[in-house]
Amino acid sequence: MNGGDAAMNDNGFLELLRRRQSCRRFARTAVEEEAIQKLLLAANGAPVGSNRNEDLHITVVTDRAALDELAFAMKRRMEDAAVMQLLTEKLPGGRSAAQRGVDPFYGAPVVFFVSHRVQTLQPGIEFSNVMSVAMAMHLEATALGLGSVFIWGVLEAMRMYPEADRSAVLRLPKDFQPLLGLAAGYPARPAEPRAINPDKFTVNTLS
Ligand SMILES: Cc1cc2nc3c(=O)[nH]c(=O)nc-3n(C[C@H](O)[C@H](O)[C@H](O)COP(=O)(O)O)c2cc1C
Repeated sequence: MNGGDAAMNDNGFLELLRRRQSCRRFARTAVEEEAIQKLLLAANGAPVGSNRNEDLHITVVTDRAALDELAFAMKRRMEDAAVMQLLTEKLPGGRSAAQRGVDPFYGAPVVFFVSHRVQTLQPGIEFSNVMSVAMAMHLEATALGLGSVFIWGVLEAMRMYPEADRSAVLRLPKDFQPLLGLAAGYPARPAEPRAINPDKFTVNTLS
């Protein structure tokens, strides 16, 4: 529609987006505290609906035992044949995701969990808020040369199977719920920049 990515005027931000991608293979190298702090700073640069920043909470987890515990609901979901069939049939990449095993964090050395106060005032805003914050961290990770990937599946599984919900491990403030994660680390292989497909979404214009 607009001649493709190559024809677009360049700017620093589009260049960052060309380097942005989901990373699911991480080097064993730990992420330095300085980089973790930069991701947290980026999170604080994100907008939050009605500026209710007190409704958000971030947990930084580098403890492998805690991540293994948090992965439990994924194991439970993989035993659910009906759900697994639906996921592999309906979601692109779902089958390979199912085959990759049960570590929903892909062995990443650090996972950030973005949690939100259980919402009654503005129902639904919590999902937008956590994405606003997590996206800022995903882009800062890209800018720093780190790989990262959003983590939704295991948190959804915790809500689907309350008996497998191990979110208490996160020691969240009362009435907070983990809604989105970001697993981060150095990529096993450096990511190649990709052209942006300019026609991914349908668009209509009112003028
Ligand atoms: C809301 C949201 C949730 C996601 N949850 C997961 C997840 O749980 N596990 C995963 O491996 N990828 C997850 N992803 C990554 C998407 O699968 C990925 O962004 C998409 O396939 C496009 O690939 P790209 O990010 O490399 O462009 C999620 C992305 C978004 C936006």
